[in-house]
Amino acid sequence: MTLISIQYLTDNPLLWVCLLVGSLIYLLLLIVGNPRRGPVLFSKDFVRPPQPLVTDHAARKKVLKQRFNATRVPENLDAVIIGSGIGALTTAVLLGREGKKVLVLEQHDKAGGCCHTFVEKGFEFDTGIHYVGEMGEGKDPRILIDQVTEGQVVWIPMDEAFDTENKWAFMGAMALKLIPESLAMFLVKTGIHGLIFPRYNKQRRTSVTEFLNSISENTELKAVLAYAFGDSGVPPSQMSILEYGIIINHYMGGAYYPLGGSSEIAFQMIPIIERYGGKVLVDCPVSEILIDDAGRAVGVRVHKSSGDTNIYAKCVISNAGVHNTFKYLLPKNVAAISAYYPLVEDVGSSISYISTFVGLNGSTKELGLKAGNTWAFHSIELQKMIEEYFALRVEEAADLDAPFCFISFPSAKDPSWEYRYPGKSAALLITLCPYEWFSAWEKQRCKHRGEDYVDLKERIGRQMWLQCQQVFPQLTGKMEYIEVGTPITNRHYLGYPKGEMYGLDHKLNRFSPEIFTKLRAKTDIPGLYLTGQDVVTGGFVSSLHSGVFTASAILNRNLLINLHFATKDIKTRRKIE
Ligand SMILES: Cc1cc2nc3c(=O)[nH]c(=O)nc-3n(C[C@H](O)[C@H](O)[C@H](O)COP(=O)(O)OP(=O)(O)OC[C@H]3O[C@@H](n4cnc5c(N)ncnc54)[C@H](O)[C@@H]3O)c2cc1C
Ligand SMILES: *[C@@H]1O[C@H](CO)[C@@H](O)[C@H](O)[C@H]1NC(C)=O
Ligand SMILES: *[C@@H]1O[C@H](CO)[C@@H](O)[C@H](O)[C@H]1NC(C)=O
Repeated sequence: MTLISIQYLTDNPLLWVCLLVGSLIYLLLLIVGNPRRGPVLFSKDFVRPPQPLVTDHAARKKVLKQRFNATRVPENLDAVIIGSGIGALTTAVLLGREGKKVLVLEQHDKAGGCCHTFVEKGFEFDTGIHYVGEMGEGKDPRILIDQVTEGQVVWIPMDEAFDTENKWAFMGAMALKLIPESLAMFLVKTGIHGLIFPRYNKQRRTSVTEFLNSISENTELKAVLAYAFGDSGVPPSQMSILEYGIIINHYMGGAYYPLGGSSEIAFQMIPIIERYGGKVLVDCPVSEILIDDAGRAVGVRVHKSSGDTNIYAKCVISNAGVHNTFKYLLPKNVAAISAYYPLVEDVGSSISYISTFVGLNGSTKELGLKAGNTWAFHSIELQKMIEEYFALRVEEAADLDAPFCFISFPSAKDPSWEYRYPGKSAALLITLCPYEWFSAWEKQRCKHRGEDYVDLKERIGRQMWLQCQQVFPQLTGKMEYIEVGTPITNRHYLGYPKGEMYGLDHKLNRFSPEIFTKLRAKTDIPGLYLTGQDVVTGGFVSSLHSGVFTASAILNRNLLINLHFATKDIKTRRKIE
């Protein structure tokens, strides 16, 4: 056996190179990360028994809606973070645990980014978290979220069982972000990376359509297999099988939802950040990243109608996405010479979407709702139906079936709902659409956009509601409230300039080794870091991990290695207990 292996190796000298480089990378990771010299972050298990759910709206507001006021800004800040999504909050907790003082600034009037919820006419709606995978006990991402929330967010398994072997291929992509950029680029340019990770290279180039065509001619089967393409906002012909594999893998072990709704995540993380001397303030749009004469990011400017405030910190972290950061927040001359600047166009923005929020008369039980998500497709020719819909003018599309309608009932997924909103239910319907359908109104103030706008969005919303009733006929006559969010609504509340769903796009080129290497937490502007979905890829768990990447870059230590060992330790400890 050994002889055969040696023979094989001498016949394939490239394998030697791979083995050598592989061992070097491993050694490097150990040195850079030094797991035993671990920082406070993962040095112990931070989980404590979950406290009772706080349902009082005023008490929640005190945490989630702390309005900006210059007097509330802590002094001697180590970091200021633009945006309060899960990437930002995770970074803030991790840096705080290392003794850093962090300020998080959110433009919306509540914290949480895609994790925020809102209450209207007695119904609560979530906005950007409908199901999260790998939240079962003992799963690595669950251990990470537990460490940054101190175990205070309770994850409830959903009803449905969810729908491989692409883990190694994905490692190929992640390796590019784990090692220093210059080394990653060297491995890519010399082709060594491709040799070590051939599966990654094949999968990232193969589209879902190509892959499905190669295994079947059955259109129906192919539609069923490609059903979750909406999770990345990319039609099957432009999505790599690498990314689709990641999504399917993610939900293999079932999906979970936070008890008390998705606002629990920020609600639990903010007090932790405050305990470490940090602060999370809302209603404070950052209009500019301040750059000193040496070209270093030294702070931000908050723009309010009452006046501007400059806030200085040792470093600036943007959770507002690459597009906002490099096109709008940095001074033009600084942004233009950054390697990130061309990425805004090269990768492009992800697709936009419409959300229809429906309040229903009746409890989960009365309405017979399930704690799952439903994808209702208008046709089985997924690619064609999307292309046809997107080619329409909005006036034409408004009275037609949307190509698909993603239907979810946050009320059915959250066991605390019945207690918080007795006798009621909430449905959230989502479909994709072009930003341009509504861009004409982008400059108008929210809720003051005129009749034409309201008429168009209400027609689309009604159509989606009809689609929903086709799947759930028991809901007919139960609608008590309906409101429609368009791409410019998304832009307003989430700050994404094209109302995009997942920040930068997730088409095939996002996963090319060059672009995947370049998109990282540490930018080429001194003192400026990124966090959030653009750093790894879209989705809650990826954005959660981006916080570890960002804290690593700032502390100049590979915390992913620490996390890896801490996760192992925690698992062992729990088994012993
Ligand atoms: C409709 C929808 C459904 C989704 N469903 C799921 C799902 O079911 N499961 C899943 O895993 N993922 C889902 N996702 C994706 C997931 O929610 C995101 O990938 C993730 O939460 C993004 O986190 P983030 O850290 O990048 O920041 P975000 O949550 O995007 O937050 C960025 C924050 O920055 C703020 N900001 C922007 N500009 C400024 C500025 N100039 N000044 C101050 N603040 C600013 C924004 O207001 C925003 O709050 C969904 C997303 C959407 C939109
Ligand atoms: C900011 O806080 C100070 C002190 O608490 C207060 O006097 C002032 O009115 C506040 N400003 C705003 C705009 O709320
Ligand atoms: C809700 O439904 C019940 C009957 O199931 C009805 O009595 C009540 O008036 C309805 N409430 C609203 C606000 O429509």
